[in-house]
Amino acid sequence: MPESPLLAVRQLDAFYGDLQALFGVSIELATAEAIAVIGANGAGKSTLLKSIAGLLRARRDAIAFDGVPIGGIPAHDVAARGIALVPEGRGLFASLSVEENLLIGGQLKRSGPWNLHRIYELFPVLAERRRLPSTALSGGQQQMVAIGRALMSNPKLLLCDEISLGLAPIVVRDIYARLPTILGERVSVVLVEQDIVQALKVAERIYCLQEGRVALAGAAKDLTREAIAAAYFGV
Ligand SMILES: Nc1ncnc2c1ncn2[C@@H]1O[C@H](COP(=O)(O)OP(=O)(O)O)[C@@H](O)[C@H]1O
Ligand SMILES: [Mg+2]
Repeated sequence: MPESPLLAVRQLDAFYGDLQALFGVSIELATAEAIAVIGANGAGKSTLLKSIAGLLRARRDAIAFDGVPIGGIPAHDVAARGIALVPEGRGLFASLSVEENLLIGGQLKRSGPWNLHRIYELFPVLAERRRLPSTALSGGQQQMVAIGRALMSNPKLLLCDEISLGLAPIVVRDIYARLPTILGERVSVVLVEQDIVQALKVAERIYCLQEGRVALAGAAKDLTREAIAAAYFGV
């Protein structure tokens, strides 16, 4: 566990109306650290990210960022503090070009290393396709736009919701190969993944959610496949 975490989620509960989706979830993340949050469909992974991003109500002190309680503050305030979400399904604007989608991410005008030039350096294929509508791109390229748009806000924390979903393994490897560069800019990353093998390659620590609770947490290198499978599937 990091000594002074960038992000500290403490005993977070989350609800959709009467349905409770998270039960006392606690996670921590240090600056420039990557963690993976894994778990089966419906385990609560997206709910956790949405709560951190300010898209769901949360107790104020259930989420601390940079030492400041931010639970339940509006999403645009969370973004302004330096948390960017790459949402499930990417959420690109279909009527806008690749470059226009990227520029939307820059509207917060936070200072930092990321700008159009750096995004095109990270994902050169996007520079070639910058004038095309985002819908003209392959799934993997669209995911790159979604990640680039999030980085354009110069976040301290990047929340990635299943970036590998529906993509071919070679495309997933290609995207994951960029993570060290992102971490090298002191951006912390939460990777929500069902592709455990990929996630474990880059994440120092993992949390496994099961039915809205943390079923297992620890350093990736200390956890056995059996322990992960048991926590993941609840067997
Ligand atoms: N918008 C919603 N309204 C009601 N229930 C939801 C909503 N989104 C998710 N849930 C429920 O919350 C639980 C956790 O879902 P989710 O966080 O999306 O899981 P995961 O991302 O791990 O697949 C599930 O039981 C799911 O059915
Ligand atoms: Mg999800």
